[in-house]
Amino acid sequence: MSEIYFPREDSYLLEKYVSLFAEKSVLEIGIGSGIQSFTAAVKKEVTFVIGIDINQKAVNHSTKLAKQKVHKNVLFLQSNLFKNLYEKNFSYDKKKNEIVITKKVVTKEITDKNKKKNQKIDNHKVWKYGSKTNNQENHTFHTIILNPPYLPEDGFKKDIALIGGKHGYEIIEQFLNEVNTFLHTNGRILLLFSSKTGKEKVDTFIENNLLEYTLLEEKYIGGFETLFVYDIKKTDILKELERKGLQDIHKFSKGHRGDIFIADWKNRHKKSKNSANKNNEKDSVAKVIIKKQRANIQIETIRNEITVLKKVNKKRIGPKLFFADDNSKEPFFVCEYINGIKIEEFLEKKSKKEIQKVLKNIFEQCFILDTMQLTKEEMHRPYKHIIVKEKVSKDTFMKEKNTKLKKNKQTKEHLPILLDFERCRYDSDPKNVTQFCQYVTSQRIRTLLERKKFTIDIEKIRKTAKEYKENKDISSLLKSVGIDE
Ligand SMILES: Nc1ncnc2c1ncn2[C@@H]1O[C@H](COP(=O)(O)OP(=O)(O)OP(=O)(O)O)[C@@H](O)[C@H]1O
Ligand SMILES: [Mg+2]
Repeated sequence: MSEIYFPREDSYLLEKYVSLFAEKSVLEIGIGSGIQSFTAAVKKEVTFVIGIDINQKAVNHSTKLAKQKVHKNVLFLQSNLFKNLYEKNFSYDKKKNEIVITKKVVTKEITDKNKKKNQKIDNHKVWKYGSKTNNQENHTFHTIILNPPYLPEDGFKKDIALIGGKHGYEIIEQFLNEVNTFLHTNGRILLLFSSKTGKEKVDTFIENNLLEYTLLEEKYIGGFETLFVYDIKKTDILKELERKGLQDIHKFSKGHRGDIFIADWKNRHKKSKNSANKNNEKDSVAKVIIKKQRANIQIETIRNEITVLKKVNKKRIGPKLFFADDNSKEPFFVCEYINGIKIEEFLEKKSKKEIQKVLKNIFEQCFILDTMQLTKEEMHRPYKHIIVKEKVSKDTFMKEKNTKLKKNKQTKEHLPILLDFERCRYDSDPKNVTQFCQYVTSQRIRTLLERKKFTIDIEKIRKTAKEYKENKDISSLLKSVGIDE
């Protein structure tokens, strides 16, 4: 185990801001000598401090110091980042003058209905933290301090108090990916790092976790090295999403104009009063997608997508829109996460019969969009934008041939979902069906379909597609593609 990191220039720089800003409940990660924790602990605005370090020696050292200094509102624990803090509550008992850490009590929410059929509670899977522990004050911190090891490995130094990973930024990245669970809605993170860590990287990790920062100080310390102190807070979007009950929000994908995040939405059906769809799903955790316009993007694509999704959802097209904010500077929406495979992978893997059903379904959706005079765009190359999900439905009490009743027979169905309506627009001559025809007859897809024993007669399809433009007769088009026999 490496030695304790004793205060250097960076520590004193951060200490200045700890003494200015630390308040209420404080968590320090990577205590080293304990300097930040002790600076925070003596502030009148601070209730208590928990300091953690991966190095047991550092923990022992600071624990000893705390005893000498008779600091009762500081507690030091060994942990690799937040690892040993999950499922815990933290509070300060004023009377006893000590820090109390308890295990989170997870209780099942017992409704009156459930009380009667006590054994059936498990089926309801509605989980809630015990009334006391539900309070954010108990398991989040108002101030979180991080002075991490931030230097890249250089082949010589192997000290965990200095090295932040192969590139230097790994620990900061992991910290920022996990911190939101532990940070109070109105809390702040005080982070110190060096130019050697890579400022751009750190800025990206902050953005990826829906956080924002203010630069408190930038200090050149020689040797081509600059230190940065950041004051990091939750963005308004993150606060809003957390308030609505979204948890574990993470970056999912980066588009050209938007950022996509994925999250868990607990008790979705309780909170979706304003959603376009009010179905009564029993499962109380839903995976959702958050799509947000990137701050530097001028074109109002997300606002357009929100308007279109509201319209097409009524025809059961697109991912279900749960809620949206199209008024703020950075509009966003939250919709159903489609767990499935991209269209091309589906065409590669599945049987002719399954493919026929799915292609027919997509053509029908395109037809509906045409009748709505909307052109989605890019239906001729929908590589990323059609996801096929497998829907399992339970047919209870299916009658079998021998007249015995069979319970819960499962039927599987493949449902293609069209994604990304940001460029969808009103069009007096809508092109969804014809664009999708182009896709099906493209060299790549044609080869794929022919391998599955489809007969693709390009001339015939082109002719019926042309006719479709005139007579809007989708059935002859489907026949010509060989998906409606
Ligand atoms: N509801 C969803 N369920 C599952 N995956 C999704 C969902 N929405 C988006 N994605 C995934 O995220 C990717 C990007 O989404 P989308 O195309 O909507 O974003 P974008 O910003 O418009 O991207 P681009 O600029 O590349 O078009 C999609 O290709 C898809 O893989
Ligand atoms: Mg897009």
